[in-house]
Amino acid sequence: MFKINDRVKWSSTINKGILSGMASTLEIMKGLKFKNKKAAGFGSYGWSGESPKLMTEALKACGFDVLEEGLGVLWQPDADALENCRKYGVELAQKL
Ligand SMILES: Cc1cc2nc3c(=O)[nH]c(=O)nc-3n(C[C@H](O)[C@H](O)[C@H](O)COP(=O)(O)O)c2cc1C
Repeated sequence: MFKINDRVKWSSTINKGILSGMASTLEIMKGLKFKNKKAAGFGSYGWSGESPKLMTEALKACGFDVLEEGLGVLWQPDADALENCRKYGVELAQKL
């Protein structure tokens, strides 16, 4: 965990929150007080779509420099959504 400089985290929205496995990982990372590391979070959703915002807030609370606000993708991504994901990935890569 300490050897990786930058990270991109994913979680779909489940019950207006994030996946429990991701929540526990972020909770552990919060205690580690990272500095000078970059991160971003994204995820798919079905209706309310809280996870990208929650992931972004959690990554900031972990001490990461958040490169982009979280990207949300509705249900199964169509061609436009996949293109947005690619652009998001390129923007992230350019900032690393
Ligand atoms: C048990 C359960 C709870 C969910 N709760 C929410 C929710 O509160 N808000 C929302 O936007 N989507 C919700 N969803 C929809 C998922 O976010 C959506 O299906 C997502 O695309 C799942 O991605 P995955 O199949 O890659 O895990 C829920 C789905 C399930 C199965």
